[in-house]
Amino acid sequence: MEKYLINPNQKISKINKDIYGHFSEHLGRCIYEGLYVGENSEIDNVNGMRSDVVNALKEMKLPVLRWPGGCFADEYHWKDGIGEKSARKKMINTHWGGVVEDNSFGTHEFFELCSQIGCDAYINGNVGSGTVQEMSEWVEYMTFGGLSPMSELRRKNGREEPWRVKYFGVGNENWGCGGNMTPEFYANLYRRFQTYVRDYDRDNRIYRIACGPNASDYNWTDKVLQIAGNKMNGLSLHYYTDMRGRRKDGFSCSATEFATQDYYEVLKSAYRIEEIISRHIDVMNVRDPQRRVDLIVDEWGTWFDVEPGTNPGFLYQQNTMRDAIVAGLTLNIFNKHSDRIKMANIAQTVNVLQAVVLTDGEKMLLTPTYHIFKMYADHQNNTLLGSYITTPDAGESTRPLPQLIESASMAEDGKIIATVVNTSDCEKAAISCQVADRAVKQVKAQTLCGKIGDYNTFDSKENVKTAEFTDFVIKNGCIEATLSPCSVTKFVIE
Ligand code: AHR
Repeated sequence: MEKYLINPNQKISKINKDIYGHFSEHLGRCIYEGLYVGENSEIDNVNGMRSDVVNALKEMKLPVLRWPGGCFADEYHWKDGIGEKSARKKMINTHWGGVVEDNSFGTHEFFELCSQIGCDAYINGNVGSGTVQEMSEWVEYMTFGGLSPMSELRRKNGREEPWRVKYFGVGNENWGCGGNMTPEFYANLYRRFQTYVRDYDRDNRIYRIACGPNASDYNWTDKVLQIAGNKMNGLSLHYYTDMRGRRKDGFSCSATEFATQDYYEVLKSAYRIEEIISRHIDVMNVRDPQRRVDLIVDEWGTWFDVEPGTNPGFLYQQNTMRDAIVAGLTLNIFNKHSDRIKMANIAQTVNVLQAVVLTDGEKMLLTPTYHIFKMYADHQNNTLLGSYITTPDAGESTRPLPQLIESASMAEDGKIIATVVNTSDCEKAAISCQVADRAVKQVKAQTLCGKIGDYNTFDSKENVKTAEFTDFVIKNGCIEATLSPCSVTKFVIE
């Protein structure tokens, strides 16, 4: 029996709710069809936003949404997306499928979407192909309440009050699609651009995010912090469980058709984020010993081949129990690093990469990853507790993957939320959970489990869904439980 120890006396950090954030780009069918169908659509909508999707995201407690990209952000010219829709300029979305972008979803529509979901806004500005003036005017347009050319333009377009922009990203992947820059060049540009991201409103101090590294590029983190660390609130990190490069090793890149070996390769790649985060934090601790700058993982998730027959530039993939395990273990890792990680945004909300919702015309389904986010919402804004679980490794390989990966937090009312992932494809896990200085009195538990390749389809939407978990007893003040293989289980402990 594995030992699971939770220490309510060891209060480590606040788990910022924005760790459970999302990302929506003008890519494939994420915005158009997925979130926005337009006012004249036959699909039930409020001001053009799909009601079924908005309601699902609300129920999942989506706290913050990043927009408009991604690579698209550094090609986006915000003035093309305001004013009378029929007069809006059209462009080619060169990054994503070469389709025509008609700009019918722009700044006003994004804030309408956020207000319907009830979430905060994270806007990503254009450094790669934009100007300082363009970025500066966008901030003025969105956040200035007084009289100015941009606030007047906003009023002319029907919005009197400024909106609240909680986070602003100064460029995206500027080491790649955002301009192919060196860290030194970007860091100096960042200093310049961010100067004009003004705080127009005392109540809206904008949190500035600099473009950070791709995966294990520790040099990028080091240089950008050295040159511009004192001018930012957060530094972003992108890490994908992207298996496409492994095809040559015989790895299946299909989101649904894969062998047990492929399952473990994906989980090991996902688990690598623990090491990557820790090493970036080590670099940050040297350059920023006061720990002023937060780490923002604003793109993460699985990346497989697109569903057969779909546009390769649309990145539409199915989502199985394997994705749910990736989500569960990653969110546990984020919780554990919540002293430095203040926001994370899974890529992407609807119909793209590791989506929580898939749509097909008027049909909509919730993916296994959705259920993980909904289950973990109980951690939002809680206090991370010290916790530890003993565990064997799972799967055969040279690179170890723990079978059990957990995190635990305390809610304001004193309840303890513990989430435990069993990564094994076939082994159950017997655990004994003890809470220090407390005899457990009452427990409610929930689980998501299945075969590694199980997923939901538009005709069978409930193949994978959460269920009450009852396979436990309370004995001598401890919880003794047996976790199913390939499962994520949440305990709410009183
Ligand atoms: O999420 C898809 C793409 O992945 C984003 O546009 C880009 O930032 C990253 O490379």
